[in-house]
Amino acid sequence: MSERVVLAYSGGLDTSVAIPFLAEQTGGEVIAVAVDLGQGGEDLETIRKRALACGAVEAVVIDAREEFAADFCFPALRANALYMDRYPLVSALSRPLIVKHLVAAAKTFGGTVVSHGCTGKGNDQVRFEAGLSALHPELKVIAPARDYAWTRDKAIAFAEDKGLPIDVSAKSPYSIDQNLWGRAVETGFLEDIWNGPVEDLYSYTADPAEPREADEVVITFKGGVPTALDGRALTPFQIVDELNRRAGAQGVGRIDMVEDRLVGIKSREVYEAPAAIALIAAHMELENVTVERDLARFKRSVDQRWGELVYDGLWFSPLKDSLDAFINDAQKHVSGDVRLTLHAGRAVVTGRRSDASLYSYDLATYDTGDTFDQSLAKGFVELWSLPSKIASMRDRGQA
Ligand code: ARG
Repeated sequence: MSERVVLAYSGGLDTSVAIPFLAEQTGGEVIAVAVDLGQGGEDLETIRKRALACGAVEAVVIDAREEFAADFCFPALRANALYMDRYPLVSALSRPLIVKHLVAAAKTFGGTVVSHGCTGKGNDQVRFEAGLSALHPELKVIAPARDYAWTRDKAIAFAEDKGLPIDVSAKSPYSIDQNLWGRAVETGFLEDIWNGPVEDLYSYTADPAEPREADEVVITFKGGVPTALDGRALTPFQIVDELNRRAGAQGVGRIDMVEDRLVGIKSREVYEAPAAIALIAAHMELENVTVERDLARFKRSVDQRWGELVYDGLWFSPLKDSLDAFINDAQKHVSGDVRLTLHAGRAVVTGRRSDASLYSYDLATYDTGDTFDQSLAKGFVELWSLPSKIASMRDRGQA
């Protein structure tokens, strides 16, 4: 029986060229799968037709925007996921969702091979293939860019030779990956890490330095999940989409960093993630108000591990499942409203309220009405410092 190759298809040059290449290489048929994760650009029907025109026997397009927001972006938000304390995992969140749909398509269409457009230098090959191993280990993988050293010039020559209906002239100087949760940009001149980013790198955010009126938004959370903006109940996709526009218009969420890739190299990436950064700021503050101290402290280390696991391609893994169960439990009181001012590149919390608040005005106030018994503090401090006091006396020969 001939192979059936399920290809993660973007509609761009490289994955379009991959269709006839994979058919030739395997002597089989290619099924193209394109997933809408809120990346914008061409509509899915145009992409579907192009896949068929390039020789795919089937082309499946999936609007996964709500699924991506609810099942991938919001779990990352509940984990305050920022790899290396800064990067909100934009690309890392999308690959496991694409994998899910590739596996579903392989089951529907009898796929035996999966193909993706990643190179051998990045994290995304790992995320695709680790995900596939977890969900459908029997599938073989072909990554033309990595396994057959495809270059852009080779792809253009191949497209022209085969007369493929794709525009080979549209050459962006940047390597970009974007979706609802944000946008990642790499490029030649940024590879000199002393070079500063230029304004035309950005498309989700306006220049934060430009003068403009501030925006203010109230975000409502239930159990750690955003449910409304300014009192309007919205779907997960709508919330992230609206915040991308509003926080983006204020230049919120630009990140320029050198990061540690899983494959061992350090790379420079410029990100913009206006909604993600605003939502994480709001969510962290609501946790500050509603999560008990030791649980909150412990959760910070869980959050960090969660972010590293997902960055490292282990979305579908036993440790990630267990951390999810912990985070889920830790979110049960994270409900309430957070008010943010969006301005000059920053999302700043200015107010918070919650029925599950652990903040007690009566305990915190320095005004009359204070119910905190200060006389208890004296003995507490003495016993708290006792172990260090004894050690210090020993060290000074006084014990
Ligand atoms: N470095 C990011 C990650 O590994 C983004 C990768 C894709 N970036 C790109 N500009 N194409 O998650």
